[in-house]
Amino acid sequence: MRYLTLPRTDLRVSALCLGAGDLGAGVSESDSLALLDQFFDAGGNFLDTAAIYAAWTSAGKGSSERLIGKWLASRRKDAVIGTKGGHPELTSMNVGRLSQREIEADVADSLKNLGVEALDLWYFHRDDPAVPVEEVLDIMEALVAAGKIRYYGCSNWKTARMREFQDAAQVRGARGFVANQPLWSLAQSDLSSSDPTLAAMNAAMRDFHLESGLAALPYSSQANGFFQKIAENRPLSRGITATYDSEAVRAVNRARAAQVENLGAQSGLSVTQMVLGYLLSQPFPVVPIIGPKTAAQLQDSLNASDVKLSAEQVAALERREMTGSLSACGEG
Ligand SMILES: NC(=O)c1ccc[n+]([C@@H]2O[C@H](COP(=O)([O-])OP(=O)(O)OC[C@H]3O[C@@H](n4cnc5c(N)ncnc54)[C@H](OP(=O)(O)O)[C@@H]3O)[C@@H](O)[C@H]2O)c1
Repeated sequence: MRYLTLPRTDLRVSALCLGAGDLGAGVSESDSLALLDQFFDAGGNFLDTAAIYAAWTSAGKGSSERLIGKWLASRRKDAVIGTKGGHPELTSMNVGRLSQREIEADVADSLKNLGVEALDLWYFHRDDPAVPVEEVLDIMEALVAAGKIRYYGCSNWKTARMREFQDAAQVRGARGFVANQPLWSLAQSDLSSSDPTLAAMNAAMRDFHLESGLAALPYSSQANGFFQKIAENRPLSRGITATYDSEAVRAVNRARAAQVENLGAQSGLSVTQMVLGYLLSQPFPVVPIIGPKTAAQLQDSLNASDVKLSAEQVAALERREMTGSLSACGEG
């Protein structure tokens, strides 16, 4: 397992981050604990969760964090945990939840659920563009000063707002975001029928990462198994079809799937190694968040942790000429 230090932090993390969105809810408690053990036994040390996770299941809001808290108490203390708050209520996704009271309440819940004294990395789960960046910056800096949060980042923020936030942080001499968690995989995404508060990697965001060196931690980094399912001729769910196989993106994603198989056969790499290798070989720090549901999927993804593709292979996967501009391959 490779490790890297997230720029401008002392967080030394494994090359892959284990997403815990379904742990303790969609995945049974015993299987979830076994997945956590398997990941750490293989050298992984970085977990992703959120205060809201499992709110849509019978296990209930906070189940993912509580499961991790239980596991931490009995097994490991040396995990690096990223969690998120400020997510709108599920019944009113258009109403932001970035007030001081709401953010502080979410942070307090996460600390309690995880059973830790400070959160290593806390992300805004969503943005609310109506709230001035200076206002939320002050809230975050106060939480850092109080020792409740060590570092913070954003998820599902548009590039212009990230720039605004980082500029405001610089003016105040604050560290600002150390990580961005967007939707991003080798597949282009069609978000036209999705939650409008999501934000995906695109050419502008890529440029921002290239300029700033900000770390990206992509979620749905395997496009929910789109490429594996195509390779194995397995049916695509309705959700995967809407996001990765709609009329708007089918041609490009089917061509990329064919390229994954061609290049994989030439280089002896599996579909998963090509798909995660694409993200692991970008010219700025990228730690893909993986979402395995079984031990076999986790092992398959772990086998990709050391893969580095050449710039030519990355360009070929995107089906662009090496001289082509990044805007020619922007996603979502
Ligand atoms: N910030 C946000 O708004 C946000 C949003 C979503 C997720 N997340 C985070 O990202 C994590 C992962 O998200 P995700 O579940 O959407 O990611 P994902 O890894 O793209 O999708 C997971 C699905 O991909 C398939 N899969 C995963 N590994 C595989 C492998 N090695 N071989 C074959 N198929 C494989 C499985 O599909 P099948 O089960 O159908 O086989 C699995 O259920 C979450 O747990 C959460 O921590 C964050």
